[in-house]
Amino acid sequence: MAGGKGTVLVTGGTGYIGSFTTLVLLEDGYDVIVVDNLANSSVVAIDRIERICKKRPLFYEVDITDEQALDEVFAKHPEINSVIHFAALKAVGESGEIPLEYYRVNVGGSISLLRCMERHNVTNVVFSSSATVYGDATRFPNMIPIPEHCPLGPTNTYGQTKRMIEQVITDQIEAQRRKLKAAGKPYEQWNAALLRYFNPCGAHPSGIMGEDPQGVPYNLLPLLGKVATGEREKLQVYGDDYPSRDGTAIRDYIHVLDLADGHLAALNYLREHKPGVRAWNLGSGRGSTVFEMIKAFSKVVGRDLPYEVVGRRHGDVLDLTANPALANEELQWKTRRTLEDACADLWRWVKNNPKGYRQEPPAELLAALDAQNGN
Ligand SMILES: NC(=O)c1ccc[n+]([C@@H]2O[C@H](COP(=O)([O-])OP(=O)(O)OC[C@H]3O[C@@H](n4cnc5c(N)ncnc54)[C@H](O)[C@@H]3O)[C@@H](O)[C@H]2O)c1
Repeated sequence: MAGGKGTVLVTGGTGYIGSFTTLVLLEDGYDVIVVDNLANSSVVAIDRIERICKKRPLFYEVDITDEQALDEVFAKHPEINSVIHFAALKAVGESGEIPLEYYRVNVGGSISLLRCMERHNVTNVVFSSSATVYGDATRFPNMIPIPEHCPLGPTNTYGQTKRMIEQVITDQIEAQRRKLKAAGKPYEQWNAALLRYFNPCGAHPSGIMGEDPQGVPYNLLPLLGKVATGEREKLQVYGDDYPSRDGTAIRDYIHVLDLADGHLAALNYLREHKPGVRAWNLGSGRGSTVFEMIKAFSKVVGRDLPYEVVGRRHGDVLDLTANPALANEELQWKTRRTLEDACADLWRWVKNNPKGYRQEPPAELLAALDAQNGN
């Protein structure tokens, strides 16, 4: 592959955030190689990426815990110079039921990836961490909105895997730097970004690319989407007795395209500034309650969506709102799209593609996209 800006290996690149980041990387002039085992995604995402940006990433169906198969991809593509690592299991509830599987895939898979990187001298990694690593930040005074220096304290197994991977990556990058430095060799090429996402949501404005989880979604907006299409009867609101302005939990929602832009900014920063290991929050800095989100999405749909309040969910916390000042300043990145944009884009995707990637998008959306692309 003739890399304009270089070649990035994206693990989990057919998944929700990975596919949007692949799109943004291609649009920015990077070449992309996706590895994914399709456990929670569809290979059709690759076609949609190409349809939108006219460039196609290479795709390998590989499980990241299969170190040999992963190594073969690195061996075949010595042009890979950076990795963006999304592949993981991510259902909070499930992580408490099958913790060993979460540690095996998330932590074990990350270790396999780092070992391949070391063997093939691929030295930059951008990692999908999560705001979940902070746990309940209201346990400290003045930690909402949450800054990166807030002490970590995940309240569920999924969050524990993310914290552990952050540590594994940090130790590995620092060890590589130390070893090379001691040998009098250049060491600054080893860098990592730990990106702590808040609540990604939304879809591509074209309406042909969005989140298409293989099982039951557990995030608020995809669930609301299913209520709007009638696939689910009503939304379950987990607790209205939190000490928030309306009793429901507060989250910081961020459009998936803004999040994808954040990965590009972080990757460019690593390559340019060679900072070692850095953690950045990727969020908007604005918190919205569950009731506020139901209202915002209902407005876009044009009718009130039904919900029922049930008990709190184990491991949920009151408020996860980002302080994104560090990313704003260092990465020169901030969210540009609004919550209303995210709701409108999500609804366009859900309404027009009730079967997700298991159907062709409506011809008029494809025609509008082609017209926009000048075809
Ligand atoms: N969506 C969120 O709310 C959120 C928030 C914070 C962090 N994250 C993290 O961001 C990353 C991407 O999340 P997403 O929402 O796009 O989820 P997703 O499930 O859509 O994407 C994850 C991808 O990884 C793949 N995958 C899973 N196990 C694999 C394995 N063993 N080998 C290869 N591929 C494998 C899945 O098939 C999927 O395509 C994950 O690491 C997740 O933990 C997500």
